[in-house]
Amino acid sequence: MSDLPQSVKIVEVSPRDGLQNEPRSVPTAVKIALIDRLSAAGLPAVEATAFVSPKWVPQMADNAEVLRGIHKRPGARYPVLVPNMKGFEAAVAAGAGEIALFGAASETFSRKNINCSIGESLERFAPVAEAALARGIKVRGYISCVAACPYEGEIAPAAVAAVARALRGMGCYEISLGDTIGTGTPGKIKRMIDVTAREVARDRLAVHFHDTYGQALVNIYAALEEGVIVVDSSVAGLGGCPYAKGASGNVGTEDVLYMLNGLGIETGVDLEQVFEAGQFILAELGREPASKTHRAMAAKRARSQG
Ligand code: HMG
Ligand code: MG
Repeated sequence: MSDLPQSVKIVEVSPRDGLQNEPRSVPTAVKIALIDRLSAAGLPAVEATAFVSPKWVPQMADNAEVLRGIHKRPGARYPVLVPNMKGFEAAVAAGAGEIALFGAASETFSRKNINCSIGESLERFAPVAEAALARGIKVRGYISCVAACPYEGEIAPAAVAAVARALRGMGCYEISLGDTIGTGTPGKIKRMIDVTAREVARDRLAVHFHDTYGQALVNIYAALEEGVIVVDSSVAGLGGCPYAKGASGNVGTEDVLYMLNGLGIETGVDLEQVFEAGQFILAELGREPASKTHRAMAAKRARSQG
């Protein structure tokens, strides 16, 4: 495969992946304002929060308030991470319309992140997916460590494909392939997608790349060539995983949009408005952007004002 798609769906993950990793606590009202700005920019899906244990990830402890507080733009989706039935029940009570189950292709990462083996996680997910589908709640799936694991090193594509098959079998409508520590390079990513696509149709795969080694954008391009049409990204390049030390932020939504706009690929998302959402959250966090496009846009604005 090598034709590029005409349109791509972007799944914005900053309110969850970005803010789960912030050392300082972010006020609930700021999270809600960020999500509302992002969905107003036309993003079709904004991952809002995670119904995980507050002992494990205290940054997501206000999950119900966040989900209840956002303005739900008609047509937009607001998936939330759910690791088990307890999280599912809390997500339903807070009005979740879509959940994301998150597993891994690495045994050690699975234990470090959700305290169980891959097999146990799949056994835990199955009744959650069943309960969600019975209520008309959509279920997304994640697989972490699709290229490498911070504890085990290289991960074989077959291990990714096996978890993808199980998640698809449970009814996940889309499976997001996470290069959690951002070590993948295009040839490896293409092989991994090729092997995984034997189990799950290419248009049901998403890519979720952290940019630790500066490979995320080229890996996204490689994935598009492989027939993937869904890309996870994070405004300003925020992100990381508390259980994958050294992993940097996700690829910046601004960078993905800049590339896709240049390729003439439709997203329905307004780059300027995403940039404004990035300015807002960076000011709140007191951080510099990791996204190069964000930096370039900020510098251009400063020049035009000065
Ligand atoms: P555990 O300690 O094995 O759970 O953790 P447990 O069932 O034994 O329960 C222990 C305590 O947690 C109990 O409370 C439970 O009630 C409570 P206690 O009796 O001690 O007071 N508990 C919960 N509380 C709230 N919500 C829940 C919940 N479940 C149990 N859902 C568990 C297992 C899965 C809960 C834990 O390991 C956990 O929460 N892990 C989440 C880790 C996480 O959020 N990681 C970051 C997201 S994944 C990621 O970033 C990767 C991704 O971006 C893709 C990529 O980049 O690769 C998606
Ligand atoms: Mg991630």
